[in-house]
Amino acid sequence: MELVFHDVICSLTASLDFVGISDIHHGKRVALMAATMAKKLQWDEDTQLNMLYAGMLHDCGISSTEDHAHLVSELEWDDVNLHCELGQRYLVNCPLFSKYALWILHHHTHWNELEILDLPEQDKLAANLIFLVDRVDFLQAECAVVDKNVNNILLNESSIMTKIKTLRGTFFAPVLVDAFLELGQQESFWLSMDYSYIDASVRAYESLSKRKIANFPTLLSIATLFSKVIDAKSPHTKEHSKYVAQLARFLAQKMGFSEEEQQHIELAGMLHDLGKLRVPDYILNKSTVLTQTEYAYIRRHSFDTMQILKTVFPNTKIAEWASHHHENLTGTGYPFHLKGSELDLGSRIMTVADVFQALVQKRPYRDALQLPAIKSIMNKMIINGELDQNVVSVLEQHYEYCYALAQSPESLKIERV
Ligand SMILES: [Fe+2]
Ligand SMILES: [Fe+2]
Ligand SMILES: [Fe+2]
Repeated sequence: MELVFHDVICSLTASLDFVGISDIHHGKRVALMAATMAKKLQWDEDTQLNMLYAGMLHDCGISSTEDHAHLVSELEWDDVNLHCELGQRYLVNCPLFSKYALWILHHHTHWNELEILDLPEQDKLAANLIFLVDRVDFLQAECAVVDKNVNNILLNESSIMTKIKTLRGTFFAPVLVDAFLELGQQESFWLSMDYSYIDASVRAYESLSKRKIANFPTLLSIATLFSKVIDAKSPHTKEHSKYVAQLARFLAQKMGFSEEEQQHIELAGMLHDLGKLRVPDYILNKSTVLTQTEYAYIRRHSFDTMQILKTVFPNTKIAEWASHHHENLTGTGYPFHLKGSELDLGSRIMTVADVFQALVQKRPYRDALQLPAIKSIMNKMIINGELDQNVVSVLEQHYEYCYALAQSPESLKIERV
């Protein structure tokens, strides 16, 4: 599988923009402004692209809808650095993005503090550029709210520029503010971020990017980064995605999947709940029965997963396997209501892995369950015709191992065929 880096990043980071619920595309607008500014500053093409990708990823430390609300409602807030530090920790472990980690760590650091740090000048400017355009986007959102008109950006550009000018030398590097003030004169700078054009504006950078991703460890490191963002949505789902991925891979291996198929199901497991980034936190943490409105958010999450993953991993089963994890053989699952014959083995494995891991883990409405209780629940699901008996049989043959695997895969070596 050889993937186009630009497509992978554009598609996957769309899920980060979900966190805004109704305020979407923050990451894309920051990315586009950062790349446009880099060009204006005559930074080379590779750096322009890096600013684009770092811009898309800059708020990966924010999974919570509550935290996201700060981004678009306040210039600064208490604990602003928490999401910078978390984002840095995610990125530093992902080889393709590790060069952005320092920028993300400092993407809310004031220039008058940043300029005296012992860091390379270009890194300081890159971090501060993300800070500047990030706050421009905050001011943009503020204007839109005040005027209740999303198309009014050309009426507000001068007030945004005036505000940024007052922060020259304190929040932002003078060289960056000067470039921004020049660029901001162009209507096209603002209009390229219009809701209708933002995707096309970002996609246009594809021609600059020659990067490809061709090996599994690199893909897995990207999927792992996103799994951390997903699982950080709720304290109850800590590492759920990683454990589901490991379980699904183990079951697939035992059921005769090829090495490549095992890799695909592991990626699907890592990303199966990507659509949850669109679900408000309080719903995921609620301990009582969900209202119809709340359940409507839940019912769409695996469909959102499908939409993103089919563009990230075309011509594979990954999107299908990931997005079928709430289907069941009786056709009463969601979002596709597929029945037995329509669900292939990979989809069935994913459902069993998701159900099993969820039972092993504490949920807001119940404690973590022990093996006897889990066995009885899963057996009932087989009797009801929901779960695949063959997959559960394989799980049963390795119950103790899978139970441990669903809680701390690092402590176990996955058995290879
Ligand atoms: Fe931020
Ligand atoms: Fe941001
Ligand atoms: Fe799910």
